[in-house]
Amino acid sequence: MSLAAPSWWRLEMAAPPELEDSLIWKLGMLGISRVAVRHSPADPHQPLLLAWLPAIDWPEAERLELAAALAPLADTFRLPLPELAWFPQQEEDWSSSWKQHWQADPVGLRLLILPAWLDQPPEHEGRLVIRMDPGSAFGTGSHPTTRLCLEALEQLADAPGGIPSRVADLGCGSGILGIAALLLGASSVAAVDTDSLAVRATADNVALAGLAPRLQVRQGSVEALAELLDGCPADLLLCNILAPVIEALAPAFDTVLAPTGVGLLSGLLVAQAPKLAQILAALGWRAELVAQQSQWGLMMLHKAR
Ligand SMILES: C[S@@+](CC[C@H](N)C(=O)[O-])C[C@H]1O[C@@H](n2cnc3c(N)ncnc32)[C@H](O)[C@@H]1O
Repeated sequence: MSLAAPSWWRLEMAAPPELEDSLIWKLGMLGISRVAVRHSPADPHQPLLLAWLPAIDWPEAERLELAAALAPLADTFRLPLPELAWFPQQEEDWSSSWKQHWQADPVGLRLLILPAWLDQPPEHEGRLVIRMDPGSAFGTGSHPTTRLCLEALEQLADAPGGIPSRVADLGCGSGILGIAALLLGASSVAAVDTDSLAVRATADNVALAGLAPRLQVRQGSVEALAELLDGCPADLLLCNILAPVIEALAPAFDTVLAPTGVGLLSGLLVAQAPKLAQILAALGWRAELVAQQSQWGLMMLHKAR
């Protein structure tokens, strides 16, 4: 009896919370979009990343190179890259293997991230549903920085005056933050991302939510965002990108955030907050660290008086 060559490789690797979304993003960049994250109830803090790769495109040499391509992500956090384990898999409905690992994911008190193919579970009835097609772009809601932003949006919505009306989403990824802002009561969102895949994912997800007329998305960075806002800076700026990128974009914040507005900045490590606050102060902004999850921080931004 001869063993048939595998049709697929199933990659399994530990995905520490710091790395999880970066790994998904990088795999997506490398054309690997069939990705799932399994959270074991026994050990919810040790998620397992799974990816399905067509065997024909991923011979051994390519699989070895994949580890080298992922290693710099771990270096950023001074972590060792978790070991990549490969399992041959025969033709099967990989798409359902992939999808079965995604669950409804409650965030804060009022939000629920729901994969596009699931119904709202009765235990989460009453929550505002953010429907996502995971696997397309960064921002499935599982990363601490995305969760920090979602929780802060919820708090803004519950504060007197509610959530600010006009929102700017700089580095929108899957569009998750802008969609949440609309569900929580914002009237419109202007969103940009330098990554064309993210722009497409945002457009798909906002259409899935039935909110397309209220969210405009374009490829680009802060300049494209200012153009989308058409000379009228937003009341709320969302920016969940790494600290050095926020630092580089900050001189243009005046063009996208009104002096009376509020900004939510994440993607930064708590240890990076003091330096970022200083840089923003020199530009006329007051930025305070208001929340954190593990080593990730969220800063709230106001115009300095
Ligand atoms: C950490 S992800 C955040 C995604 C989503 N907003 C969230 O909170 O889950 C950062 C996103 O910013 C985008 N990005 C990186 N540098 C950028 C820049 N200079 N201008 C605009 N977007 C940028 C990346 O492509 C990525 O989609």
